[in-house]
Amino acid sequence: MTTVASRPSRSPRQAPVFSKDLLEGQVILVTGGGSGLGLSMSEGLCQAGAQVVICGRSPERLGQAAEKLRSLGGKAGAIPCDVRDAEQVAQLVAKTVESYGKIDGLINNAAGNFLCAAEDLSVGGFDAVVKIVLYGSVNTTLAVGRHLIARGAPGSVLSILTPYAWTGSAFVLPSSCAKAGVLAMTRSLAVEWGIYGIRCNAIAPGPFPTEGAWSRLVPDAAMIEGLAEQRVPMGRVGAHSELANLAVFLMSDASPYQNGDCVTIDGGSWLSGAGEFSEYTRYDRERLKTLFKAMRPKK
Ligand code: COA
Repeated sequence: MTTVASRPSRSPRQAPVFSKDLLEGQVILVTGGGSGLGLSMSEGLCQAGAQVVICGRSPERLGQAAEKLRSLGGKAGAIPCDVRDAEQVAQLVAKTVESYGKIDGLINNAAGNFLCAAEDLSVGGFDAVVKIVLYGSVNTTLAVGRHLIARGAPGSVLSILTPYAWTGSAFVLPSSCAKAGVLAMTRSLAVEWGIYGIRCNAIAPGPFPTEGAWSRLVPDAAMIEGLAEQRVPMGRVGAHSELANLAVFLMSDASPYQNGDCVTIDGGSWLSGAGEFSEYTRYDRERLKTLFKAMRPKK
């Protein structure tokens, strides 16, 4: 049987889809905003009028990223911070408030990950990822939450997860555990902080190529050749603008009733991997239908 060659599809829309003032007056912190998906989401937030503050460990990278956002017309600042350190996170919140007056939203995007067989993993290796992803997200969320509660202001916290937060995945045990923890944090605080008007949501992106992730998670380009076509029902990887649009929507007043949810954006790929018979979608559909028909009991 031959693999399905192509599907009709729409190209991802690159131009801004939201009005330029959707997030006007909102100050939004983006952890790991200096590169990859964090930078792409920051660009989307800027296009919707937000004052974005990106944070990360490398001051040089952050400075360049903020400069790029400003050159595109965005309002962007950069504050170095290692999210693993609660004291640095407290300073991040204090400096942001000092410079921009307040914080309205937070995107927990900073992450760490690597491929390793679980039996070869050291305690330090497990710690390295869990401290960035789980402790980092908890540190920033609690610090921003305290600020919002003290101000009596509503706000929005968005955490970037992965579909394997609920399925688990081979070879990324620390990341699976940490992302599952962030999903639990999101759902717990959605209920606990609803009374303060603080919404907590998450996005689980599937394959969205970035230099940082691909260099750590793809051992050999040949191993993923044709993977998107085979594993993703939409037949392709995601475009950064698609993720950015979803993040802007969830951070904005366009979604004020959205709370405690995790929105998957993966072209349907986790479901196609989960269904027992979904593998059959890889085969020529007409041939498959003929085989199904031949299996029907004869009357
Ligand atoms: N395989 C197995 N263990 C690894 C590893 C790998 N590829 N990389 C690091 N480790 C282990 C180290 O051996 C060490 O454990 P030990 O003390 O028990 O020997 C531990 O992790 C810490 O290593 P270190 O290099 O000090 O980590 P770090 O805290 O500087 O870096 C990482 C954290 C490892 C997650 C690093 O990749 C990172 O900073 N990543 C951030 C960006 C990123 O991962 N982006 C992709 C997101 S998808």
